[in-house]
Amino acid sequence: MEKLAIELNKLLDGTIAANLLSELGKNYYFPKGIVAQSAEAKKYAKRYNATVGMAYREGSPMHLASIKQFVPDLKNDEIFSYAPTAGVLEFRKLWKEEIISKNPSLNGKGTSLPVVVSGLTHGIVTIADLFIDPGDTVVIPDMFWGNYRLIFEVRKKAKIVTFPFFNSSGRLNTAALEETLTSTVKGKKIMLVLNFPNNPTGYSPTVEEAEDLVEILKKAASNGKEVIVITDDAYFGLFYEDETYKESIFAKLADLHDNILAVKVDGATKENLVWGFRIGFITFAGKSLTEEQYDALVQKTMGAVRSSVSSSSKIAQSLLIRAMKNSSYNEEKQSAFSILKERYLTVKEMVKDFESNTLVSPLPFNSGYFMTFSVKKRKAEDLRRYLLMNRGIGTISVGTDYLRVAYSSIDKKDLKDLYREILKASEKI
Ligand SMILES: Cc1ncc(COP(=O)(O)O)c(C=O)c1O
Repeated sequence: MEKLAIELNKLLDGTIAANLLSELGKNYYFPKGIVAQSAEAKKYAKRYNATVGMAYREGSPMHLASIKQFVPDLKNDEIFSYAPTAGVLEFRKLWKEEIISKNPSLNGKGTSLPVVVSGLTHGIVTIADLFIDPGDTVVIPDMFWGNYRLIFEVRKKAKIVTFPFFNSSGRLNTAALEETLTSTVKGKKIMLVLNFPNNPTGYSPTVEEAEDLVEILKKAASNGKEVIVITDDAYFGLFYEDETYKESIFAKLADLHDNILAVKVDGATKENLVWGFRIGFITFAGKSLTEEQYDALVQKTMGAVRSSVSSSSKIAQSLLIRAMKNSSYNEEKQSAFSILKERYLTVKEMVKDFESNTLVSPLPFNSGYFMTFSVKKRKAEDLRRYLLMNRGIGTISVGTDYLRVAYSSIDKKDLKDLYREILKASEKI
């Protein structure tokens, strides 16, 4: 094993993070190669800096005027240069401040500095690299973002174990989670992925359900299980009901138990409405982890980033830094939230029309971008195809029994028509 990896492993020795690392994770380190040497040169090479693989002219990155003309307000360095492997430091600090302000119960708890990745997908893959060995089990609710299968099963050769997301009262099925953690998962290591607001259902736990969930994880940890929880917070903040728990479960787990490592994967993708920018973050928290140990985890994550995408988009980071420091940033985000909430309220009203329908019924939803219908006596795919081919309406079928509607994509004025069409189609097919 490379010397630098051994040093990082030594720093982590005795922590939950060390116990959970995969073989690949144990081997990761951030080399003192080109990136580290050019960072050093940036400081000390006062005459000529001939380190990094870029082209400069009179101290500024060379570039095409045809590109520059469209972003006149950014400096050349903000547009064209490489970003550091872990992301622009200022951006990482701003994001950390924002995480704390959106999750006040994190105040006073330790976390790593967030590491910038190329979108949440890349964040999840990176964590999978660090912590999953072939054959490991990953626990997720049975309503999940389909890409998890490709990431965990196909790519990482792990085994996905699901538990029913809802109980018979339409609440988060924490009892099923507990049963899965205690009976189904063999061995010490547990990897759990939580995604609230959930894709595809659009459900987030109530305050009480969040507390139950956390108690269950604490119990598992107290019984000697070594638990890593990834909170996929892609749709964070889009909570529309008073009773909903409004922070990330990550905030509750951050200092819960020595046997729990919490990993927050979040990003600008949906939170800042920049889907194609490809900017996400990974943040670690664990009860007794020290600053030095957080740094060791960040170094390992940088090794994973360096060996996959090398670094994330610089122009996207620069634009987001400028936006986050802009005086109207919070107001603009609030206004986007209000538009989505109005759509949610309209859909809530519309789904009342489905109450007496025996063929399609809405699953509980209270947050995020989506709601899902449970389709009975028919295949969801047949309903989807009918809507698409006969009515010109695109939806997503999930497995054989569910139809997901991204009402976030439809203007409020069109929502009534859309839901009337779905109702009619369900009766017709
Ligand atoms: C639950 C969930 N996680 C992650 C992602 C991916 O985010 P990104 O586009 O930043 O990779 C999505 C996108 O649809 C999602 O629904």
